[in-house]
Amino acid sequence: MPANELVDDPLWYKDAIFYELRVRSFYDSNGDGIGDFPGLTEKLDYLKELGVTTLWLLPFYPSPMKDDGYDTADYLDVHPDCGSLADFRHFLKEAHRRGLRVVTELVLNHTSDQHPWFQRARHAPPGSHERDFYVWSDTPTKYKEARIIFKDFEHSNWTWDHEAKAYYWHRFYSHQPDLNFDNPAVKRALMRAVDFWLAMGVDGLRLDAVPYLYERDGTTCENLPETHVFLNELRRHVDKKHTNKMLLAEANQWPEDAVAYFDHGKSCHMAFHFPIMPRLFMSVRTEDRFPLTDIWAQTPAIPDACQWALFLRNHDELTLEMVTDEERDYMYRAYAQENRMRINLGIRRRLAPLLGNNRRTIELMNALLFSLPGTPVLYYGDEIGMGDNVYLGDRDGVRTPMQWSPDRNAGFSRANPQKLILPTIIDHEYHYQSVNVEAQEQNRHSLLWWMRRLIALRKQFRAFGRGAIDFLQPDNPRIIAFVRSFEDESILVVANLSRFVQHVELDLGSHRGAIPVELFGRTSFPAIGDRPYSLSLGSHVFYWFALTAPAGASVHPASDSALPKLDTDGDWESLLTDDAAGPLARALPGYLATCPWFSSKARPKTARIVEVIPLTESTNPCITLVEVEPSEGDPERYLLPLGFVTDVAAHELRQRAPGQVIAELSLVDASGQRRGIVCDATADLRFGRLLLAIIERRRRIKGE
Ligand code: BGC
Repeated sequence: MPANELVDDPLWYKDAIFYELRVRSFYDSNGDGIGDFPGLTEKLDYLKELGVTTLWLLPFYPSPMKDDGYDTADYLDVHPDCGSLADFRHFLKEAHRRGLRVVTELVLNHTSDQHPWFQRARHAPPGSHERDFYVWSDTPTKYKEARIIFKDFEHSNWTWDHEAKAYYWHRFYSHQPDLNFDNPAVKRALMRAVDFWLAMGVDGLRLDAVPYLYERDGTTCENLPETHVFLNELRRHVDKKHTNKMLLAEANQWPEDAVAYFDHGKSCHMAFHFPIMPRLFMSVRTEDRFPLTDIWAQTPAIPDACQWALFLRNHDELTLEMVTDEERDYMYRAYAQENRMRINLGIRRRLAPLLGNNRRTIELMNALLFSLPGTPVLYYGDEIGMGDNVYLGDRDGVRTPMQWSPDRNAGFSRANPQKLILPTIIDHEYHYQSVNVEAQEQNRHSLLWWMRRLIALRKQFRAFGRGAIDFLQPDNPRIIAFVRSFEDESILVVANLSRFVQHVELDLGSHRGAIPVELFGRTSFPAIGDRPYSLSLGSHVFYWFALTAPAGASVHPASDSALPKLDTDGDWESLLTDDAAGPLARALPGYLATCPWFSSKARPKTARIVEVIPLTESTNPCITLVEVEPSEGDPERYLLPLGFVTDVAAHELRQRAPGQVIAELSLVDASGQRRGIVCDATADLRFGRLLLAIIERRRRIKGE
């Protein structure tokens, strides 16, 4: 495998699919009951097969772990629970080798009270360089307009320190003193941490709790101009010293405040869109698109090089800070009837239990997540519908060990179950014996397989990551519909937010003549005509349609997609006779995994063309016999018609049958170097004609 499979693209985060994970809960390699980097490295192939492209790791730095590592005690090392720096480096190398990028946490706002900087500060005299690393006061009344964020745990943002004989400022837990950004030495120390991880190869940093860096009297101490000046400085620093890195702002703010973190492309590359998240849940529960369309209407346009990060759930509570009081009451009534499900201003539950474990709603929510503008962020375990444990403290109930198998400790660890970092889920409905990766790998109808298909499909279209959005306004409020478009791609998304069958008429006038092709089944629908386009949708059903260009419209060859790119000095024929290490053979397993007719329960590991049956004197198109070695079980053989198509025909095919396109190919044959696509030849109309001709010929021969 090459050392580095990363594409050299400064905008990589726009086409990415993030997967957020807690190293401690992912996989334990040494049987101490705690997940670690060697364990995570062992599971990289699982993540690669899932199709995600970027791993966002929760904090793994030395820490007393009173806030799950967001209480940093050393910015430049790895917590021994998770392994060593060498383990981290090895993990990073292995991730990059698989084309997976890695984003880590930069907790800028505060440290642990155990950090040597704080220990030094509390013993140093007032006004000294050491003391000034943090924010001190003689009274607890300063900055009183600043809200308390962890309102279930703290009653003030000030705590008295006996050693320093002064109050120190903290926006979160009292054991997390806020750093003093007015002190240039603090900024220098943090820049060292930035360089340390980015120079090592980390691809991006999530800037934790970034709105709260500065304090000023008479303000809410959030989103202050000084914060933006610092972020500009950070961005310039990163751009000067590193390439293809990304800064992601965790700013739990209204859209107009959140966009300030992009600052016309001069600050963060990405920012979470917090308010969209509860509105996804509201729209599905109220069966009305208004909460979603309303929040997008309030979301300003963002610079071209910037991107929203969208999520359904994460390691924190489902935050309800960016909703009105009425909306919050509604969300609590709908999603957190029991008091213990609530924490601070939010709901501490995972996706599947929030949605009543209803597979259709889970699919619908993910489909929306994957089709709205932004980069989707999956939370570990949600791809298999893991449950939660509201009896655990703080937010631990959504941070339990990943469920790999029905074995002891869910296959997460070989340790004594009492030693685990957190208990596994044993609730009847979500018990790890039934909800686990192994079981879902065996069943091609499982949520895991569905997520893999959704991800694979999304990766075929750049419109999802980069395209504009155009909302349609059908009369039926239970239907949300919009078109995502980028260059020559147009994807129509239609979703039924209701539990009941709905009918909708869509005004698709600007796409008159186009043929909607449903992407999961590659089924062509009637062409869009002059009248409103009429559709019926079952309970919680969604459709993704590629809108093919109307006949006669000018088309540009599609290029640069997420398809595998094959390059060979040989011709088409030589490609077919290559062994399993050849370029075409290497592209086949990824393609087969997305095919509805691929019947093996296990994943295709390798594929080899063992026979080529030409239909004419040429082998393009042809029928091939492919031997597939699944990840488990005996080899299987499939008939796979293959063809190489170029120019406008390739473009047309990519539009009409994107799911049957296998790879982009550049080859050299008698006509010189040619570029095009390899496809399942049944998608190519010439193939059908050829077959008919052959059948005709046989009839004639028989008749003679
Ligand atoms: C993190 C939380 C953490 C808090 C304080 C947040 O933004 O997501 O998990 O408790 O920062 O560090």
